[in-house]
Amino acid sequence: MSATNDNGRAEGRLGVRPAPSPVRADGRQWALIIVLVLLAASATAETGKGTTMTTIALPPPRTDGSLAVEAALARRRSVRNFADRPLSLAQLGQILWAAQGITGNRWPMRTAPSAGALYPLEVLVVAGQVNGLADGIYRYRPGKHDLRPFETGDHRETMARAALGQGWMAQAPVTLAITGITARTAAKYGRRAERYVYMEAGHAAQNVYLQAQADGLGTTAVGAFRDNAVRALLGLSEDETPLYLMPVGVPR
Ligand SMILES: Cc1cc2nc3c(=O)[nH]c(=O)nc-3n(C[C@H](O)[C@H](O)[C@H](O)COP(=O)(O)O)c2cc1C
Repeated sequence: MSATNDNGRAEGRLGVRPAPSPVRADGRQWALIIVLVLLAASATAETGKGTTMTTIALPPPRTDGSLAVEAALARRRSVRNFADRPLSLAQLGQILWAAQGITGNRWPMRTAPSAGALYPLEVLVVAGQVNGLADGIYRYRPGKHDLRPFETGDHRETMARAALGQGWMAQAPVTLAITGITARTAAKYGRRAERYVYMEAGHAAQNVYLQAQADGLGTTAVGAFRDNAVRALLGLSEDETPLYLMPVGVPR
């Protein structure tokens, strides 16, 4: 059994340092070790709450579809009744891209407008029924179009309880949480930032509604929830405010 001392070196039990290994690395072995360390560092393992989970790459989003925007607007309705059917990773990726995905070629602009292009919004996912995705809580990373894991397990019931007991939410395969970090916008717009962030959450949520409609899915923008309970579940820091919850699934 070994422990790590203040310098990060392994020491034997009772602080007795183990005998140095008789095997010494020559130049080529060192090069190999360095390559392996670099490969390990660039691997996509991310640490959640004490759990090592792998970052999930999402399939590239479609930028074309068969439903006209007018038809999506005409048919959009809030959906609170979901079939017991999973989402595919592509469906989830498409919805996330609609919410906050990157669309710019020269600059990383996004699907939803943002005051000063400062992008204060974040999107998290509480997943419980997505093919190819372990149940858990993830943060969407628009620049990489992937999901960074935070927590394992199916937390949809906890989320529904946090939303003042709106039990129907737990039937949806996933719930998105749109959050805002007002400081990003306040750096330029001062006190006006708060309203800008709320406006932007509305833009992102409408994108989710329309993308869901285009893909045969349904959602509802949920604003009734206990901030502290949602914060605790999603592990949000003080400067990140939960703004909208959006369960997404196949309408029943
Ligand atoms: C700011 C806001 C908060 C909302 N919060 C909830 C909610 O907590 N639960 C819910 O079931 N629907 C919620 N809704 C959805 C509305 O009930 C819904 O949009 C409204 O009934 C109109 O129906 P439609 O979306 O089908 O057109 C909310 C909508 C908005 C814009």
